Amino acid sequence: MKTVLAIYSSLNGEQGNSSKLANEYLTKLEAKGDVSIKRVDLSTMELPHLSSEEMQAWMTAPAERSEAQHVLANRSDSIVESVKQADEIVLAVPMYNFGIPSSLKAYFDRVARAGITFKYTENGPVGLLENKSATVFAARGGIYAGTDFDTQTPYLQHFLGFVGISNVNFVYAEGLAMGEEQAKNAFSAASEKIIELSE
Ligand SMILES: Cc1cc2nc3c(=O)[nH]c(=O)nc-3n(C[C@H](O)[C@H](O)[C@H](O)COP(=O)(O)O)c2cc1C
Repeated sequence: MKTVLAIYSSLNGEQGNSSKLANEYLTKLEAKGDVSIKRVDLSTMELPHLSSEEMQAWMTAPAERSEAQHVLANRSDSIVESVKQADEIVLAVPMYNFGIPSSLKAYFDRVARAGITFKYTENGPVGLLENKSATVFAARGGIYAGTDFDTQTPYLQHFLGFVGISNVNFVYAEGLAMGEEQAKNAFSAASEKIIELSE
């Protein structure tokens, strides 16, 4: 059975355009069967910025952690565990102020753990999350794909590759704030790509 971890980061929860696109894809995967989907909605998770105390908790051996450090370390440990268990990571990613939502950055800050999800070697960093793919559903008010203003695509490719996930597909719905016709065309192009990816 294939395991999928779906991570939503729209402020609008299920009503977000990125969430709807991700769900369109997940519905198709479910229809094919033999898939288990775990969903995480970062708009309700209220993950704080990574703090010095939390990093110190990671760096303290489990047997030596205080009660508070166990709680702090567990945030990242449980996130890493759910990513490890997944064969495919689905990311629903709105563009907010020219970047990824800060909630997703806070989540990624718990995924990148030296010695656990990546390691440094003489030849540079090596990702430790093996045999996984990722599919990104990017919703944007404007149009950026293929331009220098698309900060999300290279960042996501680089971050995911850094932890070992280099098989990454992108589905874009762009220009959603540029009139009804543009939005309609963007959703229909995204739907075609979703059909292609879910076959
Ligand atoms: C706080 C906020 C910031 C936004 N910033 C941008 C932006 O920088 N560039 C852009 O193209 N669209 C921007 N938008 C529009 C969103 O990308 C668009 O509404 C998209 O559908 C959001 O995805 P979602 O519906 O899944 O939340 C912004 C929207 C909000 C609410």
